[in-house]
Formats: sequence, C-alpha cells, structure tokens
Amino acid sequence: MLAIIGGTGFDGIQGFKESGFKRILTPYSKDRVIIELYSKSSTTVAVVLRHGKKHHVPPHKINYRANIWALHAIGVESILAINAIGGINPKAEPGAFIIPDQIIDYSHGRDATFYEENLDQVTHIDFTDPFTEELRQIVKDAFHASNKNSNQKRILLDNGVYGCTQGPRLETAAEINRLRQDGCDIVGMTVMPEAALARELKLDYASLALCVNWAAGVTDEKLVMDTINLIAKEGMDFLSDIITEVIKRKFQN
Ligand code: HPA
Repeated sequence: MLAIIGGTGFDGIQGFKESGFKRILTPYSKDRVIIELYSKSSTTVAVVLRHGKKHHVPPHKINYRANIWALHAIGVESILAINAIGGINPKAEPGAFIIPDQIIDYSHGRDATFYEENLDQVTHIDFTDPFTEELRQIVKDAFHASNKNSNQKRILLDNGVYGCTQGPRLETAAEINRLRQDGCDIVGMTVMPEAALARELKLDYASLALCVNWAAGVTDEKLVMDTINLIAKEGMDFLSDIITEVIKRKFQN
C-alpha cells in the first residue's frame, strides 16, 4: 500500500473517497496515530497528516517514529512525503515543485532512530541516497503528466538538496547563506528524521516538495505567513493530481 504523509496545506486526495480511518497504538506514544484511508476502485491509500488534523503539531514536536511505525504496521510499503519548503536555488521559486535527491540534516533533539533500545547489535543503515530512486522517477513522470493536463504550467526541479532545519521559527538570512554554501537548494523542517526512519523499516520513501516562499534574505520581500499559506493552498489541487498519477503508475498498471 502507498501512504501519503501530508504537510502544510495538504487537504486530502481529490477524486478519492474517504473510506474510514485506523487508530494505531505504537510503542512511541500513548496517543494513537490516526491514519485516514482514501479509496478509488480497488486502490486504497493511507494518509497521515504530520501536523495533525488541526495543523497544531510543530515540526520539532511531530512524533516521527510513531507515524512511520504505524504506517509500517498496517502494511504500507511506500511513502510519498509532501513537504512545504522555502526556495534557496533561484529556480525554486514560490509555486514550483521539487523532488529532492539529497538531504542535509540541521535538526536536533528529535527521536531519530528505532535502533536504540533492546539491541542485539548496533545498527547503521545505508543512507547514501536518502530517497528511493524508483519512487522519485514515478513522481517525476506523474508530475509531467499532470502538468501536461493543466492550464497553469508549474516548474519542476527534479533533484536538489533539502536542508532540514529545526524550526519552528524560520531562518535568519545568515543561516540561509550558510545553507546555500553547504549546497542546499531548498529549506524545510520535516523531512528528517522521517526519511531515515522509513529507511530503517525498509520502506520506499520520496518527497514531493512545494515551494511556498523564498527562503530568508533571498529577496527583499517580507516573509508573510498568510502568503505562504495561500501558495500552499493553491498548490494543493495540482498536488492532488500528481498523487493520482503516482497511484495510477504504481498500482493500476
Ligand atoms: N524555511 C523552513 N521551512 C519552511 C520554509 C522556510 O523558509 N518555508 C516552508 N517551510
């Protein structure tokens, strides 16, 4: 089964029917993880909203372990993560989509592994390529199919380095300069430790990121939350089309 982990602005998959939900108890929280199920003909997709239904869980407080463990427990094999990000690379303008191929992790203090207790042996996963290449290619093809059918053409960067900051505050201009010098194309707060936890449980994982603002100091424009939320909302219909195309390619051939 495919799962979508929805981020800021994500509001379901158009054309799919809400077909119930699961509440999964995990070793990582007394609260259950809510997984919504969306169906179309014989295909069911699991959806987790990482910031919660009311968008009230900030990036550093998300229980990434519980979310990934719960998805694995119900039989999910592939995860498409949706991430709102800020653009550092001049091509990553607001409204553009990015399918990152690399990560630099600047986050800290998050529970970032399943391999820390009751171990027979210390375990290190290979994380050279943090995203699953086959899933990235499917998302790329899905993007191009959606763009072809759309009146409003969108820009895609089909690779790029995602710098994951701690948040919840946005960055300083100097921090963004440092990220640029490090080679980051985009900046967000939620891909880590999500991607690493997925790899630990051998789940396929790719990110489809929507640029909702220029990162701090990239332009003179002030960062306004209302504008960020508006661009996130505007991108969501298109995102829903891409997800539908991903499902077609992955499950309905
Ligand atoms: N920085 C970090 N995370 C973000 C941004 C940003 O500018 N925009 C959306 N998520």
